[in-house]
Amino acid sequence: MGDNSEGLIEGYGTKESPLVKDLLASDSRPLSYALQQEGNYRPAPAKIPFSTYYDKDYAEQEMEHVWKKCWQFACREEDIPNVGDRYVYDVGPLSFIIIRSGENEFKALYNACLHRGTRLCSAHSGGDEIRCPFHGWQWHVDGSVKEIPGQWDFPQVDETFRLPEAQIASWGGCLFINPDQDAAPLEDSLGVLKEHFEHFDMGKRFTLVKTAKKIRANWKNVWAAFLEAYHVAETHFDAVDFNGDANTKYDIFDNGVTKTGRLITPAAVPSPGLNDAVTAREAAIEAAKSFANALGPAAEDTLPDFDKIPDFGRKHVAEWRRETMKAMLGVDLSEVSDSEMLDATQYDMFPNFGAWLGEGLPLMYQFLPLGDDPNESLFVVRLLAPVADENQRPPAAPMTELDFDEFFESLPQWGRIAHVFDQDMSNLPIIQKGMRSAAKERSDLVLGRYQEQRIALMHEFLEAQICGK
Ligand code: FES
Ligand SMILES: [Fe+2]
Repeated sequence: MGDNSEGLIEGYGTKESPLVKDLLASDSRPLSYALQQEGNYRPAPAKIPFSTYYDKDYAEQEMEHVWKKCWQFACREEDIPNVGDRYVYDVGPLSFIIIRSGENEFKALYNACLHRGTRLCSAHSGGDEIRCPFHGWQWHVDGSVKEIPGQWDFPQVDETFRLPEAQIASWGGCLFINPDQDAAPLEDSLGVLKEHFEHFDMGKRFTLVKTAKKIRANWKNVWAAFLEAYHVAETHFDAVDFNGDANTKYDIFDNGVTKTGRLITPAAVPSPGLNDAVTAREAAIEAAKSFANALGPAAEDTLPDFDKIPDFGRKHVAEWRRETMKAMLGVDLSEVSDSEMLDATQYDMFPNFGAWLGEGLPLMYQFLPLGDDPNESLFVVRLLAPVADENQRPPAAPMTELDFDEFFESLPQWGRIAHVFDQDMSNLPIIQKGMRSAAKERSDLVLGRYQEQRIALMHEFLEAQICGK
């Protein structure tokens, strides 16, 4: 593990709310390969100025050395189901048309006309040509020239005027792009994700809900809000009766090429901060009710009679979820561990991909700078569900958009999670503001050594990109 873990305390647990490693040890099912793995890396403490979150020069460095050089999550294959369908992937001032150019073929084309630069595509759309709205230059979906109106006046324009491309590659139904044509393959950036997600194939899932939210905060602040569970007690104070926080397990996996962070925050246990004032049984009952509430009245009717189960606990909530999901989605989850049925397990792939493993909280995150202002960003979040029959794949949900001052709670499709997101969102603009008004001598991040190590990892990644370390 190296020197950086010396003196590190790996979480705080209590009798009613043990550390995740102890919860995993008492799971009712064998653990997946992923859950058996322990991290092997801890970031070194580093000086991280608040200014990296608002400084325009720093944002430009990120644009040059991160967004133009790194593999990044663009969209899901299912967002563009038919040949010719396209998704506009904007990252800061950059823009790419992610297009299905063949049955199983994708391209990431620069979204700028080769004539006089007009943005070619402004909305998710389809069709068998890409056509500039200004003078009507046209390209085929593979980026080759289709037609130049008034070609007689452009002797300098020939078939070499293909739309330029970024690299594109797919993993688990997710499309990643890299504008750097010389970059190493996506596989290098995926790190341990490939092995850890082998049993949890995201290609066999579909997007049930999808929302893009504008936020008045730097993209890293949004990411950082999801990289630790330390904020749960204060920010999500109304969830501590049935969610862990300080007992969360954090790991960083260094496979020699890339470092990948992970957290596992347990559900159906109380916060250890309550010091056993709420019992594990009470927490499990609350968690079951909350999961049922998210699924609607029909699911609530299926809840067990708690009075008849004196030791009601995580394994019972997990079992009820296996049965409910089988009835609702037709999927067999009988072998899936309690942890993967209940807990929030989230992996990072910097700069912008948050992959969640398991049915506890099956989300997918994407963090993006918005335009040129480092004080604004876009957070794209999805809820994924398993596909029972690959031949009857449900269509992906359309994108819903939330402006700066709009709330997740205005979108009923997010159920109980909307409230949690809105709690997180409410912090972000004031974090951004506070960072900019801090006293000079106190304007560096002060990170918890264990609970906030993934924030340190994010900055380590960025520094390595920017400084070429
Ligand atoms: S700018 Fe695109 S056709 Fe003229
Ligand atoms: Fe949160």
